[in-house]
Amino acid sequence: MNQLRKVLIGVILLLAISACAQKKVESGYVFISGEEWRDTDGVHINAHGGGILHHEGIYYWFGEHKIEGQDGNRAQVGVHCYSSQDLYNWKDEGIALSVMPEGSDSDIEKGSIIERPKVIYNEKTKKFVMWFHLELKGVKYSSALSGIATSDRVTGPYTYLKSVRPNAGHWPLNYPDSLKIKPVNVEGAVFTGGSISSPTHELNLIKRDLDKGQMARDMTLFRDDDGKVYHIYSSEENSTLHIALLDEEYTNHTGEYIRIFADRFMEAPAMFKKDGKYYLIMSGCTGWAPNAARSAVADSIFGEWKELPNPCIGEGADTTFESQSTFVLQVAGTDKYIYLGDRWRPENPIEGTYVWLPIHFTDNGFTIEWKDRWSLDDPN
Ligand code: DGJ
Repeated sequence: MNQLRKVLIGVILLLAISACAQKKVESGYVFISGEEWRDTDGVHINAHGGGILHHEGIYYWFGEHKIEGQDGNRAQVGVHCYSSQDLYNWKDEGIALSVMPEGSDSDIEKGSIIERPKVIYNEKTKKFVMWFHLELKGVKYSSALSGIATSDRVTGPYTYLKSVRPNAGHWPLNYPDSLKIKPVNVEGAVFTGGSISSPTHELNLIKRDLDKGQMARDMTLFRDDDGKVYHIYSSEENSTLHIALLDEEYTNHTGEYIRIFADRFMEAPAMFKKDGKYYLIMSGCTGWAPNAARSAVADSIFGEWKELPNPCIGEGADTTFESQSTFVLQVAGTDKYIYLGDRWRPENPIEGTYVWLPIHFTDNGFTIEWKDRWSLDDPN
């Protein structure tokens, strides 16, 4: 009897150990969206609104470091960096850009807002260049600035350079002359962040902001095959997206930019390129609450851009599977593209999770479908 009990316990133990091993392998090599995603130290990854740089065979994920509680969406720590060789397992590389102490009067003082950091490598200057949406402390979302920081090392520390309102003194390349001579007409206009009381061409927001530079909130960077880098941001009180060419150092605007999708209120832009076509995925403008994604395609980066339908299909498509876009990653050396989104948790931002889903290209655009779990080895 004792012998039988020992054998039974042994079998149960073996089964338990193999189940654990199985789970470990599985969770290490699949993407599971919307759940806790632990780094190699076992801590939930803290890199929200992020973007990924592939450099010398390694992926680097930069994102907003959130903390617990009501102040968790304001910058309390800085921009967090993780590295990975396989996109499933991420090593904590620490804080790449640190906020400055309270009272330091720095633009990136603790309590400012630092969102959607993106990093790009400049082969000429050998610098890593980080851009992010910056709101100065205590003024909510009214500064609408872009912050720039650089580093000699990919993981940092990054040194804060400056913050700018893009393209001061420059008209968009596609702004009609008739609007350049039209007066600014913003008196009595109501801006909510997600809507304006009159269309932008009536208010002439471009002209309003011409001297001090255009507003820039949600943003991304896109590096084209020719090495040119573009800054894409929500401007004109979030009503209109701008695509702006950066200079060769990637630290300044050149004054060359276009407006697209005026009055469509798109945020969270992510750009990618496949077979010579440029694509955008974006969201609508509903704060931290998810909404239906938008998509667009162009043959040339400076347009014409054509809006496509919501790329998400199936259950959950109307909320982008409870997420908001932040980046599209082309897996190095392949033609696989991954949608990266944030599932925000504004009541306790550190609990925000990530939605990573494969992108399927169609004759007219692309689609994204929910998957409970998936891997890069899955058949298309
Ligand atoms: C939506 C934006 O995409 C986020 O980055 C953040 O700015 C929130 N709005 C703030 O409400």
